[in-house]
Amino acid sequence: MVAEAHSQTADPHSFPNYITAEMNMDDQMIAHMIQAVDNDPEEGVIAASAEEEGRFTSDRALRRSQVFRVPAENEWIGVYQGFGQFIEQINAQVFNFNLEGIEALQIARYQAGELGHYGWHTDSAYPNNRRKLSISVQLSESEDYEGGDLEFMFRDPPVKASRQKRHAIVFPSYSVHRVTPVTKGARYSLVAWIRGERWR
Ligand SMILES: [Fe+2]
Repeated sequence: MVAEAHSQTADPHSFPNYITAEMNMDDQMIAHMIQAVDNDPEEGVIAASAEEEGRFTSDRALRRSQVFRVPAENEWIGVYQGFGQFIEQINAQVFNFNLEGIEALQIARYQAGELGHYGWHTDSAYPNNRRKLSISVQLSESEDYEGGDLEFMFRDPPVKASRQKRHAIVFPSYSVHRVTPVTKGARYSLVAWIRGERWR
């Protein structure tokens, strides 16, 4: 997986709100990922409130999607390795955050039948605030679904991320983002969070 990231900002201590990079993934592996969540879907959950630390809850108003948690074994080992190199490269070129390790990769499915979506949120709200970088890789062709846009709220109006298959969108986990309801077809993505030391 090779990234080509444009990353220069005028201030060397500044960094872009997010970047888009092309990932090298063959069609066979992408089909395998899609099959994994179709064969063994698990309801997507959100972290419970601070009073219920460590618990997860289902809130279908906020999030309606299915996930497959990718085990770090067998045919998936190469995916983890490639992904690790990809993130290391992006982080060195662009963000330069203090990172420690990757959380389990997930393949997510948002489908039209249930208006699959994930409302405005950040990935690093307590108790998940050791998450520093988030990545979403588009696994579907843009024309295979309607709606299902990954959007950022840096300011109003929201900014739409690329829908191009194999495009990885990499952003600081504190960014406010959402996936708009899928109204036709299904959108699949590979998502990951990279953890690190506390912000300072
Ligand atoms: Fe998210």
